[in-house]
Amino acid sequence: MKLIVVSSLMLMLLGCGSDDKQLSMNGEALFNEVCAECHKKSGKGNFLAGIPANATTELSSEQIVVLITQGLPTHKQMPVFSGISEDQAKAIVNHLKTLRP
Ligand code: HEC
Repeated sequence: MKLIVVSSLMLMLLGCGSDDKQLSMNGEALFNEVCAECHKKSGKGNFLAGIPANATTELSSEQIVVLITQGLPTHKQMPVFSGISEDQAKAIVNHLKTLRP
């Protein structure tokens, strides 16, 4: 079941990038589905794989929303998620803040 959810999510992300109403608005669920693959559920990242911690980022909330939805020139290694709406990105950032040590 989990696999089906994950693969349909991937399809939505690969899809045409307009707001997808079916994608959850729950920041924690979105983070765990979309970001945790690289940054881990803890937001600590994966040093050996070259993934920085994102829970301790110095970027502002607004910058992280742009990073997720459009990308930032300073963070080119980070994929852009065109299927994630601004509101969803804000929900993700709110969850990310709860992970701060
Ligand atoms: C495919 C792996 C991958 C995924 C998935 C991913 N990231 Fe990243 N992220 C990276 C990498 C690599 C960097 C470092 C970017 C750079 O320095 O160019 C990064 C950097 C960041 C940073 C800045 C960290 C710092 O050093 O200040 C934040 C914040 C962040 N990611 C948040 C997220 C969020 C939120 C999601 C989910 C929407 C996400 N990332 C999904 C790979 C990923």
